[in-house]
Amino acid sequence: MSKKLAVMLSGRGSNFVAIAETIASGALQGCHIDVVLSDKPDAPGLEEARRRGIDTMVCARRQYASKQEWEQAMIDGLQARNVDFIILAGFMRILGEGFINAFPRRILNIHPSLLPSFIGLDAQQQALDYGVRYSGCTVHFVTNDLDAGPIIVQKVVPVLPADDAAALSRRILEQEHVAYSEAIALVVAGKYEIQGRRVLLK
Ligand code: GAR
Repeated sequence: MSKKLAVMLSGRGSNFVAIAETIASGALQGCHIDVVLSDKPDAPGLEEARRRGIDTMVCARRQYASKQEWEQAMIDGLQARNVDFIILAGFMRILGEGFINAFPRRILNIHPSLLPSFIGLDAQQQALDYGVRYSGCTVHFVTNDLDAGPIIVQKVVPVLPADDAAALSRRILEQEHVAYSEAIALVVAGKYEIQGRRVLLK
């Protein structure tokens, strides 16, 4: 049976669009996007979902009295749909243990650096400030430690002398759009085993 993906985003949604187009092209099989959930009612990614006829859900943090109630609303919404995997694609709030533990080893995130370097916000600027010659992106399972879960796919890009954060971000983003579908294909096919920190591919 086709696995159900829930994509969670806060903004533009270019990773969501890349995944949706890869599925539509037939290059990513065995899954479909069941719902796009955002914490931002005006996220452009939600509009992209509606245009594609994909269901959307909005859970804005400010609608709930506490972080726990906000997370519970999202858990309830996603569990009611029986989603198989949760794909964080530019979801810019840190999820707590309650949420993460509700979907063990079933939440994926993409981060615009070669983890474990440059966790958190503005990873591309952090890479420039540090002076690394290569950066890239990482798709990993989400655990309770920020940006530190088992790594599924990484892609490397050079950092060029003339780069500013925007130029480096664009180069990394191109690779993000390839990396995420590759990682989803692996997990959907179940072709992996997690041993400690390591994702062993079968
Ligand atoms: C992407 O570059 C993604 O790696 C980053 O936000 C951007 C979302 O772009 N995520 C993080 O920095 C998470 N810490 P998109 O909305 O166009 O997919």
